[in-house]
Amino acid sequence: MSEINILTIFRSTKVLKFYNGQEIPATGLGTWQSKDEEVYNAVLAALKIGYKHIDTAACYGNEEPIGRAIRDAGVKREDIFITTKVWGTDHTRVEQALNTSLQKLGLDYVDLYLMHWPVPLNPNGNHPLFPTLPDGNRDISQDWDFTKTYNLMQKLLDSGKTKSIGVSNFSVTNLKKLLNAPTTTVKPVVNQVELHPYLPQHKLLQFAKENDIVLESYSPLGSTDSPLLSDEVVVKIAEKNKVSPATILISWALWRGTVVLPKSVSAHRIESNFNVIDLPDADGKELDDLHKLRGIRRLVLPNWAPVVVFDSDE
Ligand code: A2P
Repeated sequence: MSEINILTIFRSTKVLKFYNGQEIPATGLGTWQSKDEEVYNAVLAALKIGYKHIDTAACYGNEEPIGRAIRDAGVKREDIFITTKVWGTDHTRVEQALNTSLQKLGLDYVDLYLMHWPVPLNPNGNHPLFPTLPDGNRDISQDWDFTKTYNLMQKLLDSGKTKSIGVSNFSVTNLKKLLNAPTTTVKPVVNQVELHPYLPQHKLLQFAKENDIVLESYSPLGSTDSPLLSDEVVVKIAEKNKVSPATILISWALWRGTVVLPKSVSAHRIESNFNVIDLPDADGKELDDLHKLRGIRRLVLPNWAPVVVFDSDE
């Protein structure tokens, strides 16, 4: 008997709620590596298609064209959700960094402000973003740590310049350190991390759920030239459900209860990535286990030596 396909593809209007009551659209446009006019057109296209959530960072260098696209799209500010992030060289001057981001975005506030990496970098080093030491290693501030950065971020909440604060690229170990710090009085609402079937981070997801912290999936498609999009198992599940491999990966991220941030600069793919299915549980579980066949693969791993940022990939 032939299999009957009763799944429908639908626009991703799902919303998740933070522990503080704020809502976040579960699908957002990722913009890492999207440059100037490319990102302007991408954000404009996304907002016209119906995306309500754009994710950027000071370090991406694209806040200004994103701000222009938001203005030109003619959307109401309160109808969209904007995230940006503080870079390592600004860990000791977070308020100043947020002011600069707001100025570039042309906004009075962001919805979410994240610590991009738990690694403070020398603010007076040999490069504004990636300072290095003579031995070639990153110039990491030894007299500062991320709990102090987070403490400064907490103070921003009263200013109204961000609705919520959170972190990015945090392991369970670092989340515990942050949550246990005497200075931490406001829990992060999210932890934005690399998540896809080759790096599912099940333990991190479990820990986040137990602590009412939302995980956000970046590089959900496996980033540039992704091997995931042609993975036999992903392709098989896509064919069975009569959708594209990208739709399966995005739908899996939503099925797991995460926010998903697919990046694209193509209007066609941006539109396609906004369409999802309710992934059948059996397919979700098969993708949960795919790393056991392929091995864990972390795609985004800057050299932060001697700081260990990820002590485990589970
Ligand atoms: P492009 O920007 O040219 O569309 P990730 O979100 O995991 O970082 O993946 C982004 C990469 O996947 C980019 O190279 C992007 O290229 C590509 N991409 C985005 N959407 C799709 C899609 N629906 N199908 C195939 N590739 C895609």
